[in-house]
Amino acid sequence: MELTQEKFPAYPALKQFSLEGKTAIITGAGSGLGLAVAKGFAMAGAAVVLVDSNFDSVKKLSAEMKLAGYGALPVQADVTKAVEAESAVQAAVSTFGALDALVNCAGITRRMPLEDFGESEFDLVLNVNLKGTFLFTKYAGAEMLKKGKGAIVNFGSLGSVVAIPLSAAYCSSKGGVAMLTKTAACEWGKRGVRINAVLPGTFETPLLKQCIDENPAYGEEMLRRFPIGRFARPEEIVGACIFLSSDASSYVTGHLLAVDGGCTAY
Ligand SMILES: NC(=O)c1ccc[n+]([C@@H]2O[C@H](COP(=O)([O-])OP(=O)(O)OC[C@H]3O[C@@H](n4cnc5c(N)ncnc54)[C@H](O)[C@@H]3O)[C@@H](O)[C@H]2O)c1
Repeated sequence: MELTQEKFPAYPALKQFSLEGKTAIITGAGSGLGLAVAKGFAMAGAAVVLVDSNFDSVKKLSAEMKLAGYGALPVQADVTKAVEAESAVQAAVSTFGALDALVNCAGITRRMPLEDFGESEFDLVLNVNLKGTFLFTKYAGAEMLKKGKGAIVNFGSLGSVVAIPLSAAYCSSKGGVAMLTKTAACEWGKRGVRINAVLPGTFETPLLKQCIDENPAYGEEMLRRFPIGRFARPEEIVGACIFLSSDASSYVTGHLLAVDGGCTAY
């Protein structure tokens, strides 16, 4: 069979990855991976709602973005507070007219032996990583369900699927994020809202610096576990998040996408 242009017209494959005309909320946008995702989404065409408890960081980022001609809105919110999550979603809708994507990136960790793990430290990590993801998913998801379309990307971790010693709270929270992702995907699949998670390996961000400062051997030990032989740069998470937030992944939901230099394959 002859392959002619008529039989195989040019397929706009790359256009599927565009976020042009979409509005996306990114939590934890003030630092590290959230900041990289926010910049990447803006460059892919989205208006970005930059949510963080550290308002100075998102205010500065928003000002830089607006100066460069991108649509951006800084919002101060503590992801653990239902009322703040709900009003961040409302701010996105009232400013940009719609909400198409949510990236739940805000997260923290605390490292200590299980037998010494304080109750308040455990609660804090679970509240930010799991409850915060739940609250934003709930309120943003409700908005997306109204128009029967939307995509959510949660930030899991290697700790969603394998144990990281000294990180009982973190792994518990990230395992919870994985199951929250799958449950929401099953509840909302027929109603047009997709939800997936990325599982980052080890990225060079303040969170990693905190872990290595507390225990320098941690960095060396982690590095040995990555077949790719290096830690990742923050911008290396962006492509996976754009894929999962865009029409390019229209048949992907409930998936955990490891972006981990081969760590979980090892
Ligand atoms: N850096 C890594 O190697 C790595 C690996 C696996 C998973 N992750 C996950 O990626 C996400 C981002 O991590 P990062 O390394 O960029 O961290 P980071 O510390 O650089 O950034 C986290 C951001 O979240 C914000 N934040 C913290 N608590 C908040 C709250 N209660 N409400 C609102 N905002 C809050 C912080 O102000 C900060 O801007 C986290 O969920 C983390 O668990 C990171």
